[in-house]
Amino acid sequence: MARHLITSALPYINGIKHLGNMVGSMLPADVYSRYLRRRGHDVLYICATDEHGTPAELAAKEQGLPVDAFCAQAHDAQKAVYDGFALAFDYFGRSSSPQNVEITQHFARRLKENGFIEERAIRQVYSPADGRFLPDRYVEGTCPHCGYDKARGDQCENCTRVLDPTDLIDPRSAISGSTDLEVRETKHLFLLQSKLQHEVEAWVAEHEEEWPHLSSSIARKWLNEGLHDRAITRDLDWGVPVPADTWPELAAEGKVFYVWFDAPIEYIGATKEWSDLEPENRDWKSWWYEADSGDNPVRYTQFMAKDNVPFHTVMFPATELGIREPWKKVDYVKSFNWLTYYGGKFSTSQKRGVFTDQALEILPADYWRYFLIANAPESDDSSFTWEHFTATVNKDLADTLGNFVNRVLSFSRKRFGDEVPAGAAAGEPEAKLGEEIARLLGEYESQMEALQFRKAAAALRALWSAGNSYLEEKAPWLEIKTDQEAAALTLRTAMNLIHLYSVVSEPFIPASSAAMRAAFALKDDTAAWVTAEEARSLDAVPAGTPFTVPPVLFAKLTEDDLAAYKERFGGTPAA
Ligand code: MF3
Ligand code: ZN
Repeated sequence: MARHLITSALPYINGIKHLGNMVGSMLPADVYSRYLRRRGHDVLYICATDEHGTPAELAAKEQGLPVDAFCAQAHDAQKAVYDGFALAFDYFGRSSSPQNVEITQHFARRLKENGFIEERAIRQVYSPADGRFLPDRYVEGTCPHCGYDKARGDQCENCTRVLDPTDLIDPRSAISGSTDLEVRETKHLFLLQSKLQHEVEAWVAEHEEEWPHLSSSIARKWLNEGLHDRAITRDLDWGVPVPADTWPELAAEGKVFYVWFDAPIEYIGATKEWSDLEPENRDWKSWWYEADSGDNPVRYTQFMAKDNVPFHTVMFPATELGIREPWKKVDYVKSFNWLTYYGGKFSTSQKRGVFTDQALEILPADYWRYFLIANAPESDDSSFTWEHFTATVNKDLADTLGNFVNRVLSFSRKRFGDEVPAGAAAGEPEAKLGEEIARLLGEYESQMEALQFRKAAAALRALWSAGNSYLEEKAPWLEIKTDQEAAALTLRTAMNLIHLYSVVSEPFIPASSAAMRAAFALKDDTAAWVTAEEARSLDAVPAGTPFTVPPVLFAKLTEDDLAAYKERFGGTPAA
């Protein structure tokens, strides 16, 4: 049993996320965690809201709330949606937690002791109209690289380049819109990443061959451009305070750490939040500290969209390396391209696309979970369209899986009553089916282990299809006319497939899997995975097992449904 630490990029506190955010981080992390747990591994899946920085302040301001109250409420709102999506975090924390403050300040002190943080006076954008310095997102303007005119002071959403507010062309205040901006001098802490370039390079070199191409190519690009020293403090009211024992002057001025400094540290902070709830049973440090060594090493896998890759493959590792303490670093960075909405951008700020709360208003989580993972933007961007979504739901979920389950169970009950019928001994078709199922299960397992989600979904779909082919071939509705025993064997075998599906489909569609499993009154109700041998013999559910027919697992979506979705959300991207 291996120990797996899994994190997905921490969603910004402001606003409910759209489906593109979900498929690029939390959902695949959940599918992978569920899979590994089922296989008996010791898994810790940690996520949290990313609460600091200007987006939180701006959103709170918009709602007329103090920022702490806004964050508390927005955290709960996001958590409710993630519960709705059946994301089985071990803990969903908050980057504003005291635990994160403590660890972030500790990291900063260590970096200073090791000569990787220094104070520098910088010239910063000041807005007389607003009476304050304007950090990163408080300044908007035109991107000097791609010309996008809504670039923010920290990063261009369009070309993903990281920016400094003073890089922007035609800058304006995001608070007041004022273009009367000056540049004044103020002191900030700088992380001397340039001094860590070689160490980060060596560390990336150890991992890049194993990582997906998207992750390693972004890491390489950043390293090739050279690591620059970066300001890691801001003039904001909300954030992790610069510790007064170490930097009294900056602390007195109310400076806080930049959100991207404390956010990744919250992976650790949230683990401590989790551990502090039950200190006798949970040991956060065993996951994070000196976790590379020992008899039971931790394997750490991160999930994120491609815009987050530089922070996780280069910047946060630089921080961790500079601390000179054995904190766990990531082993595998699973990154995703963009999910588009009809080829255009999903956009939180422009409210285009489908938001996660709206998705759950329309259909249960399993529909979305399956569709999104089966179409995850892994090797390229992928496009969400309602046509594709409804067709996939109808074909894969309603016809291939749901219909199989209902058809088999209803027919058997009608003809043989409420217990799994015995029937004839398994013959040639069952042996052939067993071989095929074992082969596809092996394929599914290797794709899951390789974190190839689309291919894993295809293997799962193939497992479902194999059941349909078997049923069509045996045609128990015909067999029953001439040979009751033969029909019973077919139905018992098909019911064993349903049971197998309930186990192996769980990472994708947990609620439907539970419904399939609950159909059988099995004595031994463990959640164990299926061995290849069990896949071959298909006899985990013995004759005589009582069963019930669950309600239809997946509703078929109609032309009217499709029209209604397109009407509500728009069937084409905004210009
Ligand atoms: N909040 C960031 C985003 O949504 C991700 C932060 S990931 C972390 O893009 F590592 F910083 F936590
Ligand atoms: Zn740009």
